[in-house]
Amino acid sequence: MSHSLAVLPGDGVGPEVVAAALTVLDAAEEKFGFSTERVEVPLGADHYLATGELLTEEAVGSLRGHDAILFGAIGSPKVTPGILERGIILALRAAMTQAINLRPVRLYPGVPTPIAGLTPERCDLVIVRENTEGAYVARGSTVHAGTPAQVAVQESVNTWYAIERAVDFAFRLASARRKKLTLCHKTNVLVEAGKLWLAVMDEVGARYPDVEQDYVHVDAMCMHLPVSPDRFDVVVTDNLFGDIVTDLGAVLQGGLGVAASGNLNIDGTSPSMFEPIHGSAPDIAGRGWANPAGACLSMAMMLGHLGEGEAAAAVESATTSVLADLPALAGEGMGASTAELGERIAERLRDGSAPQVTGSLMNDLAAVMNGLRHG
Ligand code: IPM
Ligand code: MN
Repeated sequence: MSHSLAVLPGDGVGPEVVAAALTVLDAAEEKFGFSTERVEVPLGADHYLATGELLTEEAVGSLRGHDAILFGAIGSPKVTPGILERGIILALRAAMTQAINLRPVRLYPGVPTPIAGLTPERCDLVIVRENTEGAYVARGSTVHAGTPAQVAVQESVNTWYAIERAVDFAFRLASARRKKLTLCHKTNVLVEAGKLWLAVMDEVGARYPDVEQDYVHVDAMCMHLPVSPDRFDVVVTDNLFGDIVTDLGAVLQGGLGVAASGNLNIDGTSPSMFEPIHGSAPDIAGRGWANPAGACLSMAMMLGHLGEGEAAAAVESATTSVLADLPALAGEGMGASTAELGERIAERLRDGSAPQVTGSLMNDLAAVMNGLRHG
């Protein structure tokens, strides 16, 4: 079986972690007998500065032909904040109708966490972030610019359509897991959007009577998540709250360098895109200090999505067992470079010595995607 991949390494540490993930992918292909055709797409700061191009129509057309996209990170101090982020990442998520940003928060055995006393048994949840709207539509206006009376209006767009899509996905995922879905919002202040989310939860929830429903305000979520992550199974939330709480979730897992995500297209019209949740980290770029685990685990999600479930689980196990041996999870104290860690994970995959991770998210996800395909 061959899968066609578009690889977008991007900026900063993006190319370093993607190279490591591809070393691991090579090993997975050898071991599990599948192959990938990879096309590298040079989107990012350098390409933008050289050509003025962000995500062009033409790039969208060619990306659409791939089975999946593997993404590193975008963002550079050489470019005004917002241009690359909105012009490439957010443009891609929108162009490829990646309705869901799936962000597992799982503490793997042996991996150090800054949260005292937290154990893997108590930290295994998934955040379903609505990925197309809310404040991320980035609409608004400025009046009286450059005067003391300057006014900024920043809108948030919330549609039944997109919320229903995210909430239904989240219920399906909860059905395949521990059967609990928590809505995270701020219905006590953002009353209009909040009413809509609650109404959708009510209506969609009626189709999933065996899934228990819960609600937590986003500020309270920032308290509950580190202290009692075992309260949660699947959490569904809007785009901006999802962006914020998943960084907090990453801390529970050991840090931003470890956390993975999948931008999922669930209608089959375009490829999904897999990316570590960390950014381009220009301050440490070029030093080999970035942890490639987030990229490797994102690549594992990609394999699961492509139907290579066995390979996905093996990459997850190899990555997390290498993580468990590190003196520090990022920076100079990691004890090995980004590339060396890629080699080490690949080696552990080849020799099959990593303890098998149980209850992989890949299985839950495969069940959900199957259900979506077959109605
Ligand atoms: C993320 C990132 C992006 C986001 C930025 C870079 C646009 O923070 O993937 O979480 O806000 O979604
Ligand atoms: Mn973010």
